[in-house]
Amino acid sequence: MLKKLLTYVRGYRVAAVLSPIMMLIEVGTDVTTPFLMRLVVNEGVLQRDAAAVAHYGSLMILMAFIGFITGGTASYLGSRAGQGFGANLRQAMFRKIQMFSFANLDHFGTATLVTRLSTDAQRMAQTAEMTLRMAVRAPFMLILATVMALSINTELAFIFAVSVPILALALYAIVRFAFPKFSQLQDAVDRLNGVVNENLSAMRVVKGFVREDYEKKKFEKRNSKVRDISIRIFNVIVFSMPMMFLMMYATMVAILWFGGIKSMDGQMLAGDLIGFLTYITQIFISLTMLTMLLVNYVRAKASAVRCLEVIDTKIDLESPVDGITEVPSGDISFEHVSFRYAGMNEDSLKDVSIQIKEGQKVGIIGATGSSKTTLVMLLSRLYDPQEGVVKVGGIDVKDYDLRALREQVSVVLQKNRLFSGTVRENMQFGNETATDEEIWEALDIASAKEFISEKDGALDHEVEAGGGNFSGGQRQRLTIARALLKKPKILILDDAMSAVDMATERRLKQTLAAALKDVTVLTIAQRISSVQDSDLILVMDEGRIDGMGDHETLLKTNTIYREVFESQQQGIAS
Ligand SMILES: Nc1ncnc2c1ncn2[C@@H]1O[C@H](COP(=O)(O)OP(=O)(O)OP(=O)(O)O)[C@@H](O)[C@H]1O
Ligand SMILES: [Mg+2]
Repeated sequence: MLKKLLTYVRGYRVAAVLSPIMMLIEVGTDVTTPFLMRLVVNEGVLQRDAAAVAHYGSLMILMAFIGFITGGTASYLGSRAGQGFGANLRQAMFRKIQMFSFANLDHFGTATLVTRLSTDAQRMAQTAEMTLRMAVRAPFMLILATVMALSINTELAFIFAVSVPILALALYAIVRFAFPKFSQLQDAVDRLNGVVNENLSAMRVVKGFVREDYEKKKFEKRNSKVRDISIRIFNVIVFSMPMMFLMMYATMVAILWFGGIKSMDGQMLAGDLIGFLTYITQIFISLTMLTMLLVNYVRAKASAVRCLEVIDTKIDLESPVDGITEVPSGDISFEHVSFRYAGMNEDSLKDVSIQIKEGQKVGIIGATGSSKTTLVMLLSRLYDPQEGVVKVGGIDVKDYDLRALREQVSVVLQKNRLFSGTVRENMQFGNETATDEEIWEALDIASAKEFISEKDGALDHEVEAGGGNFSGGQRQRLTIARALLKKPKILILDDAMSAVDMATERRLKQTLAAALKDVTVLTIAQRISSVQDSDLILVMDEGRIDGMGDHETLLKTNTIYREVFESQQQGIAS
């Protein structure tokens, strides 16, 4: 895992290596200072030698200065490398997520991806920074300060030979307790983000159904869960600090006691005692740093696993090497296709076989949940079927270059969205090189020319995130125009006119049919009136094709079709 992570230090290697080196120099000055202090007292103060005080004193100041410079540089380089590492990691995750198939996205869910990209990556950056600052510094300081203390007086050193292991044991127990709690915390944060994400993206629905209170309660519940786990963890962790100080002061008192006796007996000089005490402080400081590092590693380990999980995800739907880039025709065929969503226990498509000729206008009808959307998603390879073959232009969709296929099979999905930016930018999302003229032409075909030209700035009119400043029907027509700009061989409209009034729908269908003579168009609709002029109509029922044919044939042969038709006729009559 570490090896994998190290690759993301790329571009910041020099800083990552220099920082600990600088830290080593700082440790050197840290450890030398008490030594000089001891000399100031023993050779200067006790001997009443002002020159010695000045000499060692100025050396102390020099050391402090070197420590200041190297320590500062080390911290700067450490943050640079640490944050750079974090940025690289985020970038890698984001790039990977862009390659995710729908199935990959289903597997993770949006909420956890957001947390992984933000909180987890940031924690990794902080840990890297901390490591660069402390991982070298703490152990070296611990060892050097211990050696120096021993060299001053071996007998006194026995005191901390007792206290340090006690402290270490206590700290270990604390960290040990916190270990499993951290991953619980992470999960709770994920769930919290889940509610926020869902709530914000469906705010209109929430308000429409006056569900604010319900949502508030849902949030409150998950929020307090995060709070409670956090409190439990940090209660224990904050305990480590007072514990540290208690042991440190106890040790110091013991040393002052035994050292004081020795000093009064003339066995030990005052400077030795002062130097010794300072080394003890350093030993405890380095132990604290090591604990903090350890605690951080525990948290970071959970984060690292979560980040790498994203980066290492196997994209289950990859573009073949040297895939075919040209879709030769708009023919479509499904040959005994069965498909099941991951984690479901029933097939969503069951042995589906269909033949569609280039240029045919096909309607798809069926109850909600009958897998209409699922069927068309296989065409642009948003999912791969487990059994059977889907062919476009007579070629298995798996043999096409994925980009090329999706460019030529244009889908207006049920849940399609507009993005923040101008109308022009939104249109060019389908085709970067589209000119204004082409955009107007597409808008015209999609019956969107009129209302766009009435907006301030027309093509320069700003679209809000999600397209909130357009009506549902306008948004649908814009997404149709966007799909047209791809100049596809196959156009799929999944419930793309549901919010458009009947008269506009009729006009839209006529202009589409005229403009898209050679294009195969698949229209999924709820109303039979939307598809009854089609060359071919597919009736779907629970993942199967229940009937195929034109309007007249189906009325005679297909019960579902006839019943739906009759119920909708009554709806209009009454
Ligand atoms: N991402 C998914 N993961 C798991 N199951 C799914 C997923 N998407 C759809 N399903 C299931 O597959 C079945 C078919 O769904 P699909 O969206 O294709 O229906 P549909 O005919 O388009 O319905 P509607 O008319 O409401 O749009 C449903 O039972 C649904 O629960
Ligand atoms: Mg659907």
